[in-house]
Formats: sequence, C-alpha cells, structure tokens
Amino acid sequence: MNRRRLVQTAVAAGVLAGTAPLASAERVRTPRDFTGPFYPRGPRNQTSDLIVGEPRTDVLHFGGRVMTPDGAPYAGALVDIWHADPNGRYKHPRDRGQGELLEEFLYWGEAVTDANGAFAFRTYVPGRYAARPAQHIHYKVWFARKEILTSQVYFDELGGAKGFARSSEAAALQTANLVRKNDNLTAMLDVVI
Ligand SMILES: [Fe+2]
Repeated sequence: MNRRRLVQTAVAAGVLAGTAPLASAERVRTPRDFTGPFYPRGPRNQTSDLIVGEPRTDVLHFGGRVMTPDGAPYAGALVDIWHADPNGRYKHPRDRGQGELLEEFLYWGEAVTDANGAFAFRTYVPGRYAARPAQHIHYKVWFARKEILTSQVYFDELGGAKGFARSSEAAALQTANLVRKNDNLTAMLDVVI
C-alpha cells in the first residue's frame, strides 16, 4: 500500500467512525499547492509531447486521471503542466539559466482528458533546483475555461516532497510512484477535484 492509499484509508476510517460526512467510497481531494514564480509566459504549447527532438536522457510518461471524489471522470478537462528540465532550469525570465535551456524540450504543455478523465504526457523527469530540491511537476486543471486546481506532483523514488508540500498529509496525496521498465519511466497520478 503506498502512502497515498494509506492516507485515503485513514480518511475513510475517519469517515466510518463518523468524523466526516462522506461516503466511505469517496476519494480525498487533491490538495492545492503553489503556482510558484515560473508559470509559463508566452504562447501555449498545445501538445502533450514536450520533447520535440531526440531525447537526451530518460523520457517520463506522466499520466493519470482527473475525477470527482466519487470517481466520476472529468472528460474534456485541460491539464496544463510546467516544470524544470533535467538540469533544474525553467524556461522563464526569472530563472537565471536562460542561456542553458534545452533545445528539444518545450518546458510546458497541455493535454485534454478523454472520456475516462485520462491524460498522458511525454516529458523529462524534472531536475532539482537550489530553491526547491524536491523534484516536482507543476500543473493546473482547467474546466470550461476556469481554473479548478493548481497543484504539484512529487515522486516517491526521488525523495518525495521533502517538506515542500503544505503538510505531510498533502504531500502523501501529491506523491506519485516513478516506475522504471527498461528505458521507460512512468508515473501515474489520480487528480481528485
Ligand atoms: Fe517549481
């Protein structure tokens, strides 16, 4: 059982004990997290494939589902991600390393969820940077042109949130497993809104 499930089970136990007015099958909503200073400026990249040339290092297949607490899918939601490249650089004027950006990497992109609420990106594993050594992907979810969630995802195998989430409970709900199979890295995230 991973930490996310542990938290969900703990919350469900609280529900069964009568401490919260939720059905036991309800999922815990994904915590909000900071947008941070590097939200993309400039044109949107209307693609879920953030690597436009030959990958110079491992590719991360980052996907998941957007759903309501009772598990109903959000179809047609826009998932908007941005993150540091493997060297820990953002494409943003507030990052001093703009001369060291990777040509083949788009730094941000977006995906529309399908009928099952599923989304999938092809990107790199985000690097760590001095201000925030917990490697993370920032994302926003938009529905009917309204922003409905801003959060971040951390990775267990990279050390998790390292105290950078708003609480340890939030960190557990924002942490995905990074699974390696041969040359592929995959991380799946349930986003509950
Ligand atoms: Fe960040």
